[in-house]
Amino acid sequence: MTSEPLQEARAFEAQYGPHIPDRERPLFHATPAIGWMNDPNGFSLYKGECHLFFQYHPYSNEWGPMHWGHLKSRDFLHWERLPVALAPDQDYDAFGCFSGGAVELPDGRQLLMYTGVRRGHNADGYLQDIQTQCLAIGDGVDYEKYPGNPVLTVDDLPQGGSAIDFRDPKLWREGDGTYRAAIGNRTEDDSGAILLYRSADCLHWEFVRTLDCSCNRYGKMWECPDFFPLDGRQVLIVSPQEMDPEGLEFHTGNGTVCLIGDCEPGSGNFVRRHAQAIDYGLDFYAPQTLLTADGRRVMIAWMQNWASAGAKPAHCRWFGQMTLPRELSVRDGRLYQVPVRELEHYRKGCVKHTGVPVSGEVSLPGVRGRVLDMTVTVRPTGPDLYRWFQIRVAKDEQYETRLQYRPDEGVLKLDRTHSGLPHDIVHTRKFLVRPGDGAIKLRIILDRFSVEVFVNDGEQAASTVIYTRQEAEAITFEAGGSALLDVEKYDLIFDPKDAP
Ligand code: FRU
Repeated sequence: MTSEPLQEARAFEAQYGPHIPDRERPLFHATPAIGWMNDPNGFSLYKGECHLFFQYHPYSNEWGPMHWGHLKSRDFLHWERLPVALAPDQDYDAFGCFSGGAVELPDGRQLLMYTGVRRGHNADGYLQDIQTQCLAIGDGVDYEKYPGNPVLTVDDLPQGGSAIDFRDPKLWREGDGTYRAAIGNRTEDDSGAILLYRSADCLHWEFVRTLDCSCNRYGKMWECPDFFPLDGRQVLIVSPQEMDPEGLEFHTGNGTVCLIGDCEPGSGNFVRRHAQAIDYGLDFYAPQTLLTADGRRVMIAWMQNWASAGAKPAHCRWFGQMTLPRELSVRDGRLYQVPVRELEHYRKGCVKHTGVPVSGEVSLPGVRGRVLDMTVTVRPTGPDLYRWFQIRVAKDEQYETRLQYRPDEGVLKLDRTHSGLPHDIVHTRKFLVRPGDGAIKLRIILDRFSVEVFVNDGEQAASTVIYTRQEAEAITFEAGGSALLDVEKYDLIFDPKDAP
């Protein structure tokens, strides 16, 4: 049965979505048909295809009562639009269908678990959220809310757990056919925790244990968890609110943290051994992962930050995009990420320059454009180590986005101050990279409205949205001192006949 709010949302996106011309969107990053998008939800395989749901408010370019939008893909780059999957149409989710996960059931149906939010008055008369976990089951297009909803409530919380902040279940199926859900919560000390639940049938759930908690060290509420084994280690991903900066590792406000540890044999407890930022740029939040049929752990995230989500082009008809999906690995106890290898199918027109001496600002023949995949290696040359190196992209006489590397400090800086965003928000982010004797390798992926940088074969990533006019397509390189430069650049061309 399709409820009226769902029918209305489906009709709205079908009527107005196609009015937005393709050229006003990114070429290969996922965006909503129309209106607002935040977190990826239910990022998973279903019948061999990748399904990506997302937090969605079709009716405006601002956050509002949350629906689940729906896309699917065979290559993580071409996104087919499917009708809105969920609308807030029940008492228990009247304030919104918040983030969650998805799994394929053995009977061939797809099950979604999401946080149903309703609003009630607390003892002081204030309005507050009541968050519970709810299910919807369907065929990959249409979903029925489960009559037994909600399936996890305040009664299923451990001692001291908050019913106001109990959200964002991430689901997976274990090898023995049982299911697990990792869910964000807030504990008595007012900071975040991730709770683990288990189920034999995906309908009846019980609390297992607290996987890890912030104890006020990595921010307050921990949103949007994910939990998975990778390269012999165990990884817990969280998106904390209200973080304190820690040197150049974490920044103020909403951040993302990757906790790498091990599952203790016997007890199965997660023992954390290392914490790092997931993305060191400006726009990245609420990542989720899936496991591909060929065994790759692929991550996607909302390419935005809550603090700057008000800064958008005037009258934009869509707002919010997902990052390029990334393949993850753990090496030397750290998280690595590289663009999904599918991107390589769409690289055309290789331009290569090798060993170019740079001092002052230069541009190179054939190196320009706004939708491309470019790897730049900078090496010192001669006795005088360059003091800084700068790459400017999406550049014309007025605008540019800059990447600046200072080898003596080991600091890379991403700077979109002059990208044309007319809002006084944070525009720069600096982070430490591994000292490489003055050499650094940057893979830079540009789509029309974003820059994503992968440092030293995936040791770090940094993402930012930019809304610079598309005509700004120059790229320059500049050194303070002398450096040698290798550039390998491809245009990214998505011919519909190449779509899988
Ligand atoms: C994270 C988040 C989630 C919540 C959703 C609401 O960005 O705050 O915790 O489920 O957004 O849209």
